[in-house]
Amino acid sequence: MAYPSLSIGSLRLSDPVLAAPIAGFTDLVFRALVRDFGGCGLIYTEMVSAGGWIDGRIEPRRLRGVPQEPKPLGVQLWDREERPLEEAARRLVDMGVSVIDLNFGCPKRRIMGKHAAGAQLLRDPATVGRLVAATARGAGSTPVTAKMRLGPTIHTRTATAVARAAEDSGAQAITVHGRTADQSYGVECFRPGIAEVVDAVSVPVIANGDVACPKSALRTLRDTGAAGVMVARAALHKPWVFAQISAALRGDPVPATPSLAEQRLLLLRHHADLVAREGDPHGTVLMRKFAGRYLAGVPGARSFRERVSRAADTAEFREIVDRYFPHDTTSAAA
Ligand SMILES: Cc1cc2nc3c(=O)[nH]c(=O)nc-3n(C[C@H](O)[C@H](O)[C@H](O)COP(=O)(O)O)c2cc1C
Repeated sequence: MAYPSLSIGSLRLSDPVLAAPIAGFTDLVFRALVRDFGGCGLIYTEMVSAGGWIDGRIEPRRLRGVPQEPKPLGVQLWDREERPLEEAARRLVDMGVSVIDLNFGCPKRRIMGKHAAGAQLLRDPATVGRLVAATARGAGSTPVTAKMRLGPTIHTRTATAVARAAEDSGAQAITVHGRTADQSYGVECFRPGIAEVVDAVSVPVIANGDVACPKSALRTLRDTGAAGVMVARAALHKPWVFAQISAALRGDPVPATPSLAEQRLLLLRHHADLVAREGDPHGTVLMRKFAGRYLAGVPGARSFRERVSRAADTAEFREIVDRYFPHDTTSAAA
């Protein structure tokens, strides 16, 4: 039986499978790649500083191309002040974005410490409520969502109180990454913590953390009762994973993992698109971090990673990819 559809406010998603905001990765080129594979109900930009944009008066690089980009598209903002969030939301509406997300989960020292934002706000549900309300004022009828971790520390799990404050202030969906800010990725995502948020609010909850394939998506949905799943790291080396998870949720046959030869073509296209946008060698330098995530678990992966992390320009990048990835489209899948 197909999994129920997911709506965020008035926006009905094609599939209850979302692509996470990932700073340094979910740029315009990557988002286009994910869209082409299909199966992704909503994709988010990298997080954008509302204050840096509004007070700095320079449009962030991370918003380049957003007005022209196909929709639906979510933009994630972070800040701890109401005024820039309200104004940023107003401008995002003018750009035609479909959803405005607020970051209450970033564990980075610079964001939590210097700016007292991101996951630091999990200590203060009342402020979260004010920030959501301000963003919703600027957003008008465009849905506002909130993305959070389970709490600032393992001893301070505040997600249910924060999610309630966000909902009471107008958030139309909540994404929960099932770890606290002080937990790195070393521990497994704590799905019961996500389930507690599902029980605490009536807006849809999107479960995030360790979803990497149809099996982990189905297990996450079953264990949490969430309305959808969000994928981050797995998407970086498997941008086709959304199509696979969505097919499984619909009860359709799961599309095969692209063969290594098909992955080679994908890498070359991704690189070419980055170079077309950013020029060479900058496009090649940007591509290094994406390419290094491919070939996981395949013999030669480490050597490929080492070499591609130093690729200087297009010619060298292509030479390395050609050496490690077969050209023959009939070769076995990874
Ligand atoms: C390199 C990196 C950058 C990230 N950037 C953001 C971000 O900009 N905004 C955000 O809300 N979460 C960010 N995250 C967290 C992810 O969106 C996600 O919550 C987390 O990785 C857990 O999901 P996963 O197990 O599918 O990776 C980032 C994670 C990584 C690894």
